[in-house]
Amino acid sequence: MLKESYPYYLASEAVYANTDLTVTNKYSGDPATQVALADAEVIDKAIAAAEKAQPAMSALAPYQRQEILEHCIKRFQEREDELAQALCIEAGKPIKDAKGEVARLIDTFKIAAEEAVRINGEVVNLEISARAKGYQGMTKKVPIGPCSFISPFNFPLNLAAHKVAPAIAAGCTFILKPASRTPIGALIIGEVLAETQLPKGAFSILPCSRDGADLFTTDERLKLLSFTGSPDVGWALKAKAGKKPVVLELGGNAACIVDEDADISDAIDRIITGAYYQSGQSCISVQRILVHRAIYDDFKQRYVERVKGLVAGDPAYEDTFIGPMISESEAERLEGWITAAKEAGASLLCGGTRTGAMLDATVLENVPKDCDASAEEAFGPLSILLPFDDYDAALDEVNNSRYGLQAGIFTRDIYKANRAWDVLDVGGVVIGDVPSWRVDNMPYGGVKDSGLGREGIRYAIEDMTETRLMVIRTPQN
Ligand code: SIN
Repeated sequence: MLKESYPYYLASEAVYANTDLTVTNKYSGDPATQVALADAEVIDKAIAAAEKAQPAMSALAPYQRQEILEHCIKRFQEREDELAQALCIEAGKPIKDAKGEVARLIDTFKIAAEEAVRINGEVVNLEISARAKGYQGMTKKVPIGPCSFISPFNFPLNLAAHKVAPAIAAGCTFILKPASRTPIGALIIGEVLAETQLPKGAFSILPCSRDGADLFTTDERLKLLSFTGSPDVGWALKAKAGKKPVVLELGGNAACIVDEDADISDAIDRIITGAYYQSGQSCISVQRILVHRAIYDDFKQRYVERVKGLVAGDPAYEDTFIGPMISESEAERLEGWITAAKEAGASLLCGGTRTGAMLDATVLENVPKDCDASAEEAFGPLSILLPFDDYDAALDEVNNSRYGLQAGIFTRDIYKANRAWDVLDVGGVVIGDVPSWRVDNMPYGGVKDSGLGREGIRYAIEDMTETRLMVIRTPQN
């Protein structure tokens, strides 16, 4: 159950300023709780506090940062059920997926706790010519400074954690704007952070409306912007971010190749999960499925049967696979794309109907390439099938997208696997599984319109630190 109301966290403290934001239960549509909403003045105070707290944060020894992260792990473990329930209500996430996300939150903090004590520099040999004789260089990593984080609705806990946990490990203060539709996960993280020895002012977690949130992007006191969300918003923010580096984790229309030597049952099992878990609302959800023509009919018949059998309904039940999309308007948007694809000649193999925010798990085939259902990010329970005859042409088809986040390849041929790794223009190639596969220490991010930079703790810490060199001259006799 959610509490009646939640504060925001300003300069490490809970503030019950107002309860202007209503968070709904995404399945019933009913109000679930009220949340304090920050305005530009509050955000300004949070940035000032983060700037003031940065020297104290930088001065924390690595073992102290590790202890803070370890406290969080312990508290998340104690509050596992509450966290999963919160996700289920605020995001409409089926409870099984919600529990999976809490487990990943804990993993993410565990990885950060380990990384906190191994942020190292190197000794650089500077004696490259006679004039440098007797000179030695050493580098260390120093925190970049106060960071600005914006996290999305689809993983309210773990995608906030992918920013917060490495920031603590790296010694950066931060302000976080969680998605207004799903702020509760991040606010519970805030509640736990407020119990720690983080310096006062080191963090603020501020649900706010997009209009009032400009300072997250434009303020020059903030030294890094890390955004996860939709491509259009992400690239627009980058254009306004000024001198600060920007990390963008955006979307895609991820593809999966099933070659003729694949184990069809295994591929179907994995693709069903990859395409439809949490109603396809993941940036790496399987959207385009390219199947070798020799196995296409068999694959199609078995795949569609399985999709038709997915249990849809109340996300609170353990056997629910398909819950609501985040809002009725999002479900309407995707329903419109499905209708437009049909009008353009696609065949509907199953699904396609909608009740409120519940859209049936849908499979299309023969979708013209320029239809939104194929070319744009569906971010919902839709997959499309297309046959191929030639593996290299299938690789080209995967690349035929403005996006490039991850791709999945079902083949047992090591040479073909290697070729995919060579030629696919994506951030990650997953062999023997779906593009949707992720564990939280791997480098994760995209190319092309899918983003800039990588998350995955160690990679995020690289963005959150600067290399600082010291040169030592030893006078030569
Ligand atoms: C995303 O949707 O951006 C992340 C997917 C994941 O963490 O599994």
